Parts: sequence; structure tokens; C-alpha cells
Amino acid sequence: MGFTMGLNMLLLVAMVATNILSLYHLSSTLQSKTPTSQSVPDQLLRQLHTIRATINHLTRLQHTTTSTSVATSISTTSNPTFPSDLLLYSQLSPVASSCRNHPDLLHKYMSYTPFTLCPLDSDLAEALILRGCHPLPRRRCFSRTPPKPTSSLPQNPFPSSLPDSSVIWNKYTCKSFDCLKRFNPNLGFDPAHEITKFMSYKSELDLPIPQLLQIAKAANSVLRLGLDIGGGTGTFAARMKVYNVTVVTTTMNLAAPYNEAVALRGLVPLHVPLQQRFPMFDGVLDLVRCGHAVNRWIPLAMMEFLFYDVDRVLRGGGYLWLDHFFSKEVDLEKVYAPLIGKLGYKKVKWVTGKKTDTGGLKNGEVYLTALLQKPVSR
Ligand SMILES: *[C@@H]1O[C@H](CO)[C@@H](O)[C@H](O)[C@H]1NC(C)=O
Repeated sequence: MGFTMGLNMLLLVAMVATNILSLYHLSSTLQSKTPTSQSVPDQLLRQLHTIRATINHLTRLQHTTTSTSVATSISTTSNPTFPSDLLLYSQLSPVASSCRNHPDLLHKYMSYTPFTLCPLDSDLAEALILRGCHPLPRRRCFSRTPPKPTSSLPQNPFPSSLPDSSVIWNKYTCKSFDCLKRFNPNLGFDPAHEITKFMSYKSELDLPIPQLLQIAKAANSVLRLGLDIGGGTGTFAARMKVYNVTVVTTTMNLAAPYNEAVALRGLVPLHVPLQQRFPMFDGVLDLVRCGHAVNRWIPLAMMEFLFYDVDRVLRGGGYLWLDHFFSKEVDLEKVYAPLIGKLGYKKVKWVTGKKTDTGGLKNGEVYLTALLQKPVSR
């Protein structure tokens, strides 16, 4: 409490000082240019308003942080009216306010001892992130490191094994990468399996990377930078690295250390959920791949936001690759194909095929593999 007060005072003093400085600067420049200007009092008023608003904000903040329950302070705040698109966005997609929808989790996450080791609570962090609380608030504690990390990290993105000692295994049932591989060879932790991915053509639904590169080359389009959405252990990025293409991978740690695995392969893991706005600027990527994670389980409105955000980050002439997107057959025709069609992309490849595993047969699902090219200019 005393500490918070002190910090607030410090912030206040710093803020007032900056404002006075800028006021001084403002008035001196104004004086030198237009000595009779009427705008000086206006500027002064605006500055004072800012200072007052900030003081009010700080005071309110202090009431919130010192109340015993975060929940009570939240439930008493009135709901201003929002534009409907923003409302939708804040439900499906993270804005900072989504954190407030889970006061119990947030409260737990922020209950730690400052300046010491952080609690082992990466599960809690991910639970909040998946509920749209992203970015998470910062904390002032030291994240834990594995007890005996190895210094010999692989240079090759396809190492024969990953160092177990570079992961904190506490929250997982498995305590080694080998265990994960034995548990399920399809999770992405079996090096022998991963090295074969994206290279062979077993059905029309496959798009081997050499073919992808050929297509781009034939269209006079260079592939240098890409994003793999929901890319698991980063095998697509690993393969593309061999072809000198830089791909970053969004991945979550759902029941296994996917982020660590990507990083241990010398690739960039982005710990962002599917509903997060991509942390890239507009029109900068040559390629976006949506793997298995992007499928009919995503609420439709959210998927629309996702595709439009993909469009945002792709450059003109860039490629969107839907790799084994699955949905019910009837929905593909009536819902997803029209949704994808709205983007106005050129269909370089568009192949559908029955999903023949148990779930696929039960639900009448199909796969779609599509390579789509964004218009060169809009
Ligand atoms: C990737 O770059 C390296 C170094 O410039 C080069 O030796 C290699 O041939 C390139 N690989 C491919 C597949 O282009």
C-alpha cells in the first residue's frame, strides 16, 4: 500500500514535471512566433485537463488495486456503450479489457512476490492468454530456468533429439521429449517423422515445399518471409529454413512444451493464440500457412477476423496456404468457401478430399488444401 502510494506520487511528480517542461517549451515557441496568439490559454487548458485526467485515473487505479477483491470493483463499473464491432472484437479477440473478464485468474496471476522468483505458473498464464487476456500484464519477477540447461544447442533445425534439460517439465505428464514421442508420434516430437513432412506427395491434398517454391518462382514471386499459424513444433519453419526462407511459428504450450521445442530448433516461436492480431505490420509477409489448428472448431466470426488479419499482413501477390483445413462437407460449400472467396484471392490450388479418420467419418468431414494468391494491388 505504502509502496503503491509512493510509486503513484513518483509517477505524478514525473508527469507534472514533463507537462511543465512541455508547457514551457510550448509557450516559448509560441511567444517567439506569434506573441499575440490567443491559443496559449487553450493549450494551457488542454495541458491542465490532461494533468487532471491523469490524476483522476491514478486515484481510481489506486482504489481498484487496494480493494480486497478485484471482482467487486469490476462489477460496480458502469458499462459504456461500444460500437458493435468492437463488442464482438473484445469477446472473440484480445483487447486489454478481456483480462478483466477473468478477475479470479488475473488476481492469482498477479499475486506474486515482486523481485523474487516467479511462481511456476505458465499454465495460468496460458489459461489467461487463451481467454483473450493478451498481452498479459507485465510482472516484476524472475522467470525460472531449467535446473541444468545444456550448453550444446543444435544448429540444425532437424536434430536427431532435443535436449530435455532445457525444459522445465514440472507441469507435464511426460518428463522428456522421448516420452512425448512415444506417447503420440503425431505431436511433432518424433524427429524421424518430422524430417519427412512437407516433402512428399501422397495425395492431391499435399503441397510439397519444392512444388510450392516452384509455383512462386513461375509466378515471379519471391518467398523470403512467412508465418505459420498454429505450427506445433515448428517443422514447417524448419524445412523452410533449409531453403533459406524465414518463417516464424505461432504455437501454444497445450500439454507439451511446443514453444521450447521450436526455440531449441533455432526457430522463432510466437506465443500468441489463434485469436490474437498478428504481431506483424501490414503487407510485410510473402506467405502465411494455416495448418491443422485452423479448422471448423474456430467460431465463424473469429475465423473471418483471422482471415482478414492474414490478408492484412500479406503483401500484394503474397500467398495464403490452407493446409488440410477441415470442416463438414456441407459447411465447406455453404460457409467456408464463400468466406474464403470474399478475400478475392486467386485460386492457385484448390483440392478437397474426404477426411477418413474416425472423427472425420463420424462427422462427415472433408479436407481442403488451397494455395491462394492475394491480388497484387487493391
Ligand atoms: C541457402 O543459403 C546458403 C548460404 O547463402 C547457400 O549456401 C545455400 O545453397 C542456400 N540454400 C538453398 C536451398 O538455396
